[in-house]
Amino acid sequence: MSQVTRAAGESPSAAAPDRNLALELVRVTEAAAMAAARWIGRGDKESADQAAVDAMRFMLDTVSMDGVVVIGEGEKDKAPMLFNGERVGSGTGPEVDVAVDPLEGTRLTALGQPNAIAVIALAERGTMFFPGAALYMDKIACGPEAADAIDIDASPTENVTLVAEAKGVSPREISIVVLERDRHEDLIAELRAAGAKVLLIRDGDVAPAIAAAQSGTGVDLLMGIGGTPEGVIAAAAIKCSGGALQGKLWPRNDEERQALVDGGYDIDRVLTTDDLVAGEDVFVAATGVTTGALLRGVQYTRGGAATDSIVMRSRSGTVRRIEARHALEKLSQISGLEYR
Ligand code: FBP
Repeated sequence: MSQVTRAAGESPSAAAPDRNLALELVRVTEAAAMAAARWIGRGDKESADQAAVDAMRFMLDTVSMDGVVVIGEGEKDKAPMLFNGERVGSGTGPEVDVAVDPLEGTRLTALGQPNAIAVIALAERGTMFFPGAALYMDKIACGPEAADAIDIDASPTENVTLVAEAKGVSPREISIVVLERDRHEDLIAELRAAGAKVLLIRDGDVAPAIAAAQSGTGVDLLMGIGGTPEGVIAAAAIKCSGGALQGKLWPRNDEERQALVDGGYDIDRVLTTDDLVAGEDVFVAATGVTTGALLRGVQYTRGGAATDSIVMRSRSGTVRRIEARHALEKLSQISGLEYR
């Protein structure tokens, strides 16, 4: 039998590829996406979210990890499952922080609109930014070519100019995804005046942040204020695929500002990808619920469904695309969950 030998002093990790948890995580996001997809276009975002949570929770304990939910469905008394602090996984394997968004884009799903995904991220225990009272964050995210060009403290015009330069194109060729919100009126006007294309979305800024970090998606940047938990999940993905995300906490009023200061948060600090996810062994999996720039949504076939997922790991930098065909009846029999 051949043996792999290691030189004295060589660390085990240099020789032995270990388990890629992202490949186990994809089963979790596939299940959540298929469960949520039953609710596409039915105008009921709570049921869509609940179905995704149930399916994700059911699959999570198959993953070989000792996980603690850092970003979940909220506090224990309000969230019966996937609450912050809940232990998830098989209980054996690496100790990790877990960030979940079983259905990112509940309204998108209910209204049958693009870009809804199921997503999960893992990093070594204690290495994920805890959003706490920080509900909102101003964000800018991009791919590797523009990683050194973006600056959240610079004006939108400067960011467009610098990113265009870094990519070797004219500002007119830069596409920027922005959440369609009143708070973004000035941002949108300035980006357009700078020559950029502004792609407005109703909800769901995780998928476009990840898309901005991938080539060939038609998205160069994500900009604007969205959820802090979503910012941490997007940072985990960008840590795997390359690129950069910068964030700044965005309290909506004096009360929120005070709560952040009391909680020890520095609201003037620029949070980098590494501040948001400090771990060096990060795993992310996401599956499309409705079709968007990043992923195709769940497609139904006779007796089955097809899913499109992306799985990534920061240590290796491998980004995989996984298409799967599922036999829904068999899955429902095994799991007791409804997939049709
Ligand atoms: P859902 O809760 O409907 O899934 O929406 C998520 C989301 O659109 C995030 O993607 C985004 O970061 C945040 O909500 C924006 O918050 P708000 O809708 O309050 O502006």
